[in-house]
Amino acid sequence: MIQPFAGRDFISMRDFDRGQVEDLLARCRQFEGTSKPLLNGRVLGSLFFEPSTRTRLSFESAMKRLGGQTLGFTDAATSSTEKGESLWDTIRVVEGYCDIIVIRHPAEGSARLAAEATTRPVINGGDGSNQHPTQTLLDLYTIEKRAGRLHDLKIAFVGDLKYGRTVHSLIKSLCLFPNEFYMVYPPSLGLPSYFLEDLQEQGIQSTDFENVEDLPEDLDILYLTRIQRERFPDPIEYERVRNSYQLTPDSVKRFSDKLTILHPLPRTTELDPDLDSHPGTAYFDQAHNGVVVRKTLLALLLGAG
Ligand code: CP
Repeated sequence: MIQPFAGRDFISMRDFDRGQVEDLLARCRQFEGTSKPLLNGRVLGSLFFEPSTRTRLSFESAMKRLGGQTLGFTDAATSSTEKGESLWDTIRVVEGYCDIIVIRHPAEGSARLAAEATTRPVINGGDGSNQHPTQTLLDLYTIEKRAGRLHDLKIAFVGDLKYGRTVHSLIKSLCLFPNEFYMVYPPSLGLPSYFLEDLQEQGIQSTDFENVEDLPEDLDILYLTRIQRERFPDPIEYERVRNSYQLTPDSVKRFSDKLTILHPLPRTTELDPDLDSHPGTAYFDQAHNGVVVRKTLLALLLGAG
């Protein structure tokens, strides 16, 4: 059987065309409920230079459920980075301890650099404000499950579109399909100009608003994000925009029954816990789908899927 993903890195959704995205999602569906020991004897190097709950633990769960093992660190301060070791050297060393590496790092481009340092497959677990491609795969998987398709949807991105890497990754993939896009953000937190230029080159357009109330009632997907406090160079600017949005059961009443509410989590004040029991919410399913998606990726990249 042809294994087009074996040995590859998973750095950015820009590297995958529509056919490959559809193929990956089809493989994820096949992995639902699978816990065969496909990765027995394999080791995942899990290098988290930034905090994480979902990404790190769902990778660990995925690896263990397939019979593999993990090693790594959850805090760069406990690694030799603290003594001045470069990322390049860290990767060159860790590649000798494992078969595949997942890295989360605050610097944009760090995952690509890590991939250049090693012949082991490298997975980007989030690089600064740039990309978070495994989150995108689980977002797409969740959207497809809820809406039944990835095309001809009315999709709104709400919140911090400037620093939110989950948004950057997901838009790139949803643009591969014919969809209608709405962007809702405070004036200072729109998509970065390089990203907008990229979308313009692809002929992708969106309708932009500052308020959720302006979105069409027949919206299919509302993808809400946290204002990314840790990315703001100026804390005063963060304080100014931190409470820009608060989605509540009342504020989503005007939307139709088909609305799905997604959020990559963690949340702060933008997502009222009273929405958790709303039939349109899918953010905990979304987080749980991280395991099947990451099981699939680990198996495919290691040539075992
Ligand atoms: N969605 C997400 O990336 O969550 P963590 O930061 O907890 O991994």
